[in-house]
Amino acid sequence: MKLSNNKILITGGASGIGLGLAERFIKENNTVIICGRRGAALKEIADRFPSIITKACDLSIEADRIDLYNWIAENHNDLNVLVNNAGIQNWMDISDNDFYERANDEITTNVIAPVHLANLFINLKSLNTIINVTSGLAFIPLSKVPIYCATKAFMRSFTLSLRHLLKSTNIEVIEMIPPALNTDLGAKGIHDGHPAVSDFVESVFAQMKEGKSELTFGTSEARANANNDVISDYFNKMNP
Ligand SMILES: NC(=O)c1ccc[n+]([C@@H]2O[C@H](COP(=O)([O-])OP(=O)(O)OC[C@H]3O[C@@H](n4cnc5c(N)ncnc54)[C@H](OP(=O)(O)O)[C@@H]3O)[C@@H](O)[C@H]2O)c1
Repeated sequence: MKLSNNKILITGGASGIGLGLAERFIKENNTVIICGRRGAALKEIADRFPSIITKACDLSIEADRIDLYNWIAENHNDLNVLVNNAGIQNWMDISDNDFYERANDEITTNVIAPVHLANLFINLKSLNTIINVTSGLAFIPLSKVPIYCATKAFMRSFTLSLRHLLKSTNIEVIEMIPPALNTDLGAKGIHDGHPAVSDFVESVFAQMKEGKSELTFGTSEARANANNDVISDYFNKMNP
């Protein structure tokens, strides 16, 4: 994708990877719109970066996803990039009392929402890029976040199909595959000690400049390219 003069919607852009991408895209002279559930977080970002446009919405709610699309179609019908970044990560065990409920939330936010948004946003005439944020855990699961890993494997698979389905259009489909990074995903502190988002963002921007469509960083490169033996080896190390 070209890296400047785009109008970009980044879901979950008020924190972590989404915010890192938003800041970097602004530097490259793009218009950035972010959305998320927490109004206070969106306001804080709008105060820090007055050019960022914000929209409060809960993407786990179907009506909010449709409202978001209609609002963009009415007010920003030159939007050309959708970044499906918003996500949640639930640490849990199959025997937990609320396992099914939390699995349901995770599947709705991490799978149903981006699938629905992709289906809605391809109707925008200006759309030419969809970026799906998956994970190194799409390739080798960590059993403490069992549903999270499965949602990312789903999105990996869906992204491959989507790229193929949109081949005859002018819509490019890019997959960002972060490894563990230092954000508040899952809860504050869980991801401390992992690489900084800014390092990941610098790397994926360089890869996008080269025209790559599968963007890895650090350990996610080996995970994405692992054969069955390597997958089994990693799995045993990650899940002692
Ligand atoms: N950090 C990592 O180690 C890592 C590794 C691989 C992949 N990823 C992926 O990277 C993406 C971003 O995660 P992150 O690490 O940057 O964590 P994060 O800081 O927690 O960001 C997640 C964002 O998603 C938004 N969000 C969650 N549920 C939402 C909903 N129902 N509606 C609208 N927005 C919602 C959150 O905003 P609100 O809470 O305000 O709604 C938040 O801004 C996720 O897809 C994650 O799976 C992260």
